[in-house]
Amino acid sequence: MSTKNTLPKHVAIIMDGNGRWAKLRGKERYEGHIQGVESVRRVVRAAADAGVEYLTLYAFSTENWGRPAEEVEALMTLFCSCVINETPELIEQGVKVSIIGSRARFSEEVNARLNEIEQRTAEGKVLNLILALDYSSRSEITEALRHIATKVAAGEVKAEEITESLVSDNLYTAHIPDPDLVIRTSGECRLSNFLLWQASYAEFYFPQTLWPDFTEEEFAKALEVYASRERRYGMV
Ligand code: IPE
Ligand code: IPE
Ligand code: MG
Repeated sequence: MSTKNTLPKHVAIIMDGNGRWAKLRGKERYEGHIQGVESVRRVVRAAADAGVEYLTLYAFSTENWGRPAEEVEALMTLFCSCVINETPELIEQGVKVSIIGSRARFSEEVNARLNEIEQRTAEGKVLNLILALDYSSRSEITEALRHIATKVAAGEVKAEEITESLVSDNLYTAHIPDPDLVIRTSGECRLSNFLLWQASYAEFYFPQTLWPDFTEEEFAKALEVYASRERRYGMV
């Protein structure tokens, strides 16, 4: 049995190419990140208009802590200003924001802002916007295993009760369906530690466009490409 696609329920995007966008214009890398916020705005609107139910945006990987301190600092400042500037419009659009990733390394201020955006948008019913921040898929799976192992050791779960759905339920994405479509901009064709478990049967789309240049039209094109694919799930 195979499934003809219509609209993906969950689209996940690796927003890549901000630094190259800036460099091409003789600007500093952080200016590419600032410009990238415009694309986030466009894509959130386009996803909501199209009827996509879940949109996950990879905004900061655990590996990104290894970038120069000034770039990391600029990104943290940008996350905070985005919460302040974007929350009213997100509420108005019916967007519910949730964060996946580790919260341990963010400053108190960043964590307070992230809590603020989750709380203030909690009633949103139109689109679930999931932001992956300090996200590492391997850490997520490792943490889930640790959690399950603790329960086994305590006698709360038997080894034979460890199923795929139990693993899924112990990931950050426990209440989120698996992504149907993963988009990575900028022409790079890799996952960079993003949703390794969840994207097992996702369709992939790798446009050349750098993230700050990604438009509503390109998002619509990605949905079209998805609709033309045939998902076979190992069958014929
Ligand atoms: C993606 O753009 C944004 C983050 C990783 C935060 P990059 O900053 O990776 O841009 P390139 O890949 O260097 O062009
Ligand atoms: C992946 O992009 C992380 C985000 C888009 C947030 P990177 O630019 O950090 O990934 P690599 O280094 O090219 O694999
Ligand atoms: Mg990059």
